[in-house]
Amino acid sequence: MNQQNNCDVLIIGSGAAGLTLALHLAKNADVVILSKGTLNEGSTYYAQGGIAAVFDENDSIEAHVSDTLIAGAGLCNEKAVQYTAENAKACLHWLIDQGVDFDKEENTQGEQKYHLTREGGHSHRRILHAADATGKVIQTTLAQRVKQHSRIRLFERYNAIDLICENNIDGGNNKQCIGAYIWNRNSEKVESIYAQKTILATGGASKVYQYTSNPDVASGDGIAMAWRAGCRVANMEFNQFHPTCLFHPDAGTFLLTEALRGEGAKLRRPDGSRFMPAFDKRAELAPRDIVARAIDFEMKRLGVDCMYLDISHKSSDFIKQHFPTIYQRTKDLGIDITKQPMPVVPAAHYTCGGVMIDEHGRTDVDQLYAIGEMSYTGLHGANRLASNSLLECLVYARAAALEISESLEPNNCFRKLPRWDESRVTDSDEEVVIQHNWHELRLFMWDYVGIVRTTKRLERALHRVELLQQEIQDYYQNFKVSNNLLELRNLVQVAELIIRCALERKESRGLHYTLDFPNTLAEAKPTILVAKNDSSTSLAPMVNRSADE
Ligand code: FAD
Ligand code: SIN
Repeated sequence: MNQQNNCDVLIIGSGAAGLTLALHLAKNADVVILSKGTLNEGSTYYAQGGIAAVFDENDSIEAHVSDTLIAGAGLCNEKAVQYTAENAKACLHWLIDQGVDFDKEENTQGEQKYHLTREGGHSHRRILHAADATGKVIQTTLAQRVKQHSRIRLFERYNAIDLICENNIDGGNNKQCIGAYIWNRNSEKVESIYAQKTILATGGASKVYQYTSNPDVASGDGIAMAWRAGCRVANMEFNQFHPTCLFHPDAGTFLLTEALRGEGAKLRRPDGSRFMPAFDKRAELAPRDIVARAIDFEMKRLGVDCMYLDISHKSSDFIKQHFPTIYQRTKDLGIDITKQPMPVVPAAHYTCGGVMIDEHGRTDVDQLYAIGEMSYTGLHGANRLASNSLLECLVYARAAALEISESLEPNNCFRKLPRWDESRVTDSDEEVVIQHNWHELRLFMWDYVGIVRTTKRLERALHRVELLQQEIQDYYQNFKVSNNLLELRNLVQVAELIIRCALERKESRGLHYTLDFPNTLAEAKPTILVAKNDSSTSLAPMVNRSADE
C-alpha cells in the first residue's frame, strides 16, 4: 500500500517561482513544497545577471515594455508584458523585504542607490543584481525563509511522477487535479499526495539539449506532466541559446553572464577581430538570438570550436568587484580574465514556451496552476529579454497566490487517492537502455533542432523521437521507476512538443530560425498544441501502471 500525504496546497518545485508562491500562501494554507533534488538545486540558484525592473528615474515602464516587445519579435502578449513591467518594482521590494541584498553604489549626491547593470536588448541600465551570483542570493534567502515557516513542509529528493486528475464533480467538461504521485528517492517508494490546489513550478527543459547552461533538474517534468494531464502548451519551438557559456573541458556547464557584455566585454574571433558589429548595429548588446546565431555562424564558417569574450580592457579591480564568481572560476581553470579572453560557445539556456496559463497562473485543468519557466504567459514571445525570467517567476507567483488564497476552501476534506500499483513491474535489468536513449535524444536535439533548423532535420528528429517514445514507454511499463527513467520519459515528451511546434511554424522569428522559411510572416501567432484527451493520468480509481499505460 503506498503512503498517502495530504495538504492544502502542493507546490512542485523549489526555485524562485515555487518558494515565492509558498511564502505568499503560507499565511492561509498548509503548504508542501516538493523538490526533486536538494531544496536549492534548480536554475534559480545559478542565475547570474540579475532581475529587470525600473528603478532608474530616467527609465520608464514604457521603455521596459518596449524592450521586451522588441526582443520578443512581435510575438509577446502585450497585456502580460505590461502587467509584468508594472508589477516588477513591487515584487522586487517584496524580495528585498525577505532579505535579498542587491548591490548598491553611492550616487553623486552621496546617496546609496541600487547598482543597475545592463544586458542585451535593454535600452537602460535596469538590472538589479548581487554581483554575478544573484540567483544564489535569492535562492538561499527564500530557502531560509521557507525553512522557518511552521505551515510549510519540505519534501526534498522527491520526484513528482504524474498528476492525479478526475472528472469534475460538477459534471463540466474539465478535469480537476487532486494531487500527484511522487517518488521518494530516499526510500525508493512511490507515495501519493492529495492537495486542494496543485502548482507546477518545475522550471525549464533545456536539458533536452546536449549542451546547456542548466542544472540537471531542468528536464521539463512539469511541462510533460501537464501535457499528459490534458493542458495545452504553446511556443515550445522557442528555445533560447545563451551565447556565452564557458568552453573548457573541465568547466561543466558554466555561464558567462550577459552583464559582462553589458559592462563592455567584446566578442572576438580566434584572431582577435570583432564580428558582432557586422551582424547587428547593437553589436554585443543585440538580443541573444542574434548574438548566439552570429557565434554559431562564425564557428561553422571558420571551422573552430569556440569564439572569445574579452573584458581584459577593464581594470582588474572592476572585474573582481563586479564578477567575482566568474573571475574565480576561470582562474581555477587557468584563465586570468583580467588579461586573457574567455573561450565561449552557445548552449541551451531557457524554455520560452510552456504550459498555457491565464493571468492568475491557472492551467486548463481545474485546481492546477503553473508558474515560472515552465509556464507560457506570453511575456517572452519569440525570444526572452535578459533578466525577465526571474521577474516573471516573482510576478506570476504573486498573481497565483492572490487567486489561490481567494479560492481555497477553508475546510479541506482530504480525499482518498487511487493507489499506485507496482505489482507487475520489476527492477530494471537493462540500465544501459536508459543511458543510451538519454545520449541519443540530447545529441540529435542539439544537431537537428538547434540554433539553425531545416524541415528535413526536424522531420528526422521527430521520427527518432517517436521510436524512442515507444521504447521508453515499454520500459516504463515493465520496470520500477528511477530518476533517470522518469526524466527520460519527460524529456522525450518535451522533445516531441518542441519539434511539433517547430514544424508548425512556417517562418523564422526570434529564436526559431529555419533555412527553409528564412522570412518573418507579417502576422505573428503563437503555436498552440492541444493535448489529446486520452491522457495517461486520467486515472481510474485503482491504478495499475502496467495495465493502464
Ligand atoms: P527552477 O529554479 O529551475 O526550479 C525548478 C524546481 O523544480 C527545482 O526545485 C527542481 O528540483 C524542481 N523540480 C523539477 N522537476 C521536478 C519533479 N519532477 N518533481 C519535483 N520537483 C521537481 N534569469 C534571469 O531573469 N536573470 C538571470 O540572471 C538569469 N541567469 C541565469 C543563469 C543560469 C546559469 C541559468 C541556468 C538560468 C538563468 N536565468 C536567469 C533563468 C532563470 O534562472 C530561470 O528561468 C528561473 O530561475 C526559473 O525558476 P523556476 O522557479 O521556474 O525554476
Ligand atoms: C545572464 O546573466 O547572462 C543570464 C541572464 C538571463 O538569463 O536572463
